[in-house]
Amino acid sequence: MQATLFALACCLSLPALAAPESALIADYAEQARQENPAFNGFSAERGKALYFAEQQRNGKAISCTTCHTADPRQAGKTLAYRKVEALAPAANPERFSNPQKVEKWFRRNCDDVFTRACSAQEKGDFITWINSLK
Ligand code: HEC
Repeated sequence: MQATLFALACCLSLPALAAPESALIADYAEQARQENPAFNGFSAERGKALYFAEQQRNGKAISCTTCHTADPRQAGKTLAYRKVEALAPAANPERFSNPQKVEKWFRRNCDDVFTRACSAQEKGDFITWINSLK
């Protein structure tokens, strides 16, 4: 019974059941429309590609997986070997519940990996993908 309820809660997008991150997503969608009038929705596919995209930094490959591992449901570690709790809400429900924290780390982490900020579209794509992980 509980499993059934959980399954229902997870897959309905009724506002009453909306997870906190859906407000974030709505916000990024609004910004993405301003960045690009042709914006037509977020893509989990693109979000996944962003996560795995490798850049070269001082002769070494760096990507989101460098610290968050190839499976964001697992804990990772920083370059200084400090533990980073799992990034996927499926494994760590606190993730994407504090917009300021999310923004702060997108800014830092996108800068570390891509040496630029991520666009609202990239952030929305990314959250769409990571939320889809079970
Ligand atoms: C150099 C290590 C490192 C890399 C590379 C990295 N991260 Fe992070 N990330 C961290 C750390 C450290 C934190 C903050 C500590 C924590 O919340 O566990 C964090 C937190 C976050 C958060 C905050 C989520 C929340 O709600 O708590 C997001 C979003 C995030 N990272 C996305 C990314 C994305 C997207 C990439 C690739 C573009 C990336 N990270 C690459 C180390 C990294």
